[in-house]
Amino acid sequence: DWTMGAYREEAIRKIREQVGDKKVICALSGGVDSSVAAVLLHEAIGDQLTCVFVDHGFLRMNEAAEVVTMFREHYNLPLIHADESDLFLGQLEGVSDPETKRKIIGKLFIDVFQKYANDIEGAEFLAQGTLYPDVIESVSFSGGPSVTIKSHHNVGGLPEKMGLKLVEPLRELFKDEVRALGHELGLPASFIGRHPFPGPGLAIRCPGEITSEKLDILRKADAVYIDQIRKHGLYDEIWQAFVAILPVRTVGVMGDYRTYDYACALRAVTSVDGMTADYYPFTHEFLGETATRIINEVGGINRVTYDITSKPPGTIEWE
Ligand code: XMP
Repeated sequence: DWTMGAYREEAIRKIREQVGDKKVICALSGGVDSSVAAVLLHEAIGDQLTCVFVDHGFLRMNEAAEVVTMFREHYNLPLIHADESDLFLGQLEGVSDPETKRKIIGKLFIDVFQKYANDIEGAEFLAQGTLYPDVIESVSFSGGPSVTIKSHHNVGGLPEKMGLKLVEPLRELFKDEVRALGHELGLPASFIGRHPFPGPGLAIRCPGEITSEKLDILRKADAVYIDQIRKHGLYDEIWQAFVAILPVRTVGVMGDYRTYDYACALRAVTSVDGMTADYYPFTHEFLGETATRIINEVGGINRVTYDITSKPPGTIEWE
């Protein structure tokens, strides 16, 4: 795309002009925005950039390893993998209120980022994948809880606190333009086309208390569900799809035995911008096949439901 080719050159020129020979740190989440920002910055200033990937342990199956491999091996980008999953899980023990969860995760995220960033000597800039809609957005993203969350990716207030200047190379772009730029920068299509994923990750798909047992079950169920969606060629038609593990066990029967395991809910929606959404009209055949696969392949789940709530009145996430 010639437009994005030109944008890329111009953005690189501006980054070099702003940063000079100084060092830049960047919080990499593995999401499209921060990934595109990181690759663009790396192209502009090379090893003057160090990325910090805060791994809170609420990522999907294999996700942390995939992010680390892609950026370190494919892009040769200096990346610190801050694996602090024990810390996050520990601090969330016994917590089930959704807002409290988000606040704890948001605060820890910033603490952890700051701790690792402090070890990078001589950094003067903090890079963020802020998009144009983030810049102009002054109202609630989704009518409540998400506002605080959204700000957790964009480490608000931190630059001043750490005495860093901001670099925001995507500030003029909309989401589809960021994807085009990512494509231009050679990021894999499968990566660019990934469904949105919330900053607090699986923690808000696990209503009630979060335990490592539930997270493991959730990761496995989610992987089967997404595999089903890909196999049926539906991934790109859907804005977002995920499993939520419910804080309730129900009775089932498998062979000659009674089971008493978790119930889960499948969610899939179509949307343009996440502000409103419709539930995706899967066929009964697809739903039945998916439920069977999840129950057969994932220990700990014996009941599968499909969430048919649109937004509004529902939100996309469960918390
Ligand atoms: P809701 O659940 O509010 O979600 O309808 C709308 C969109 O926003 C995403 N979302 C978040 N993204 N941090 C994020 O970066 C968050 O805390 C957060 N909460 C929700 C959600 O996945 C959906 O795409």
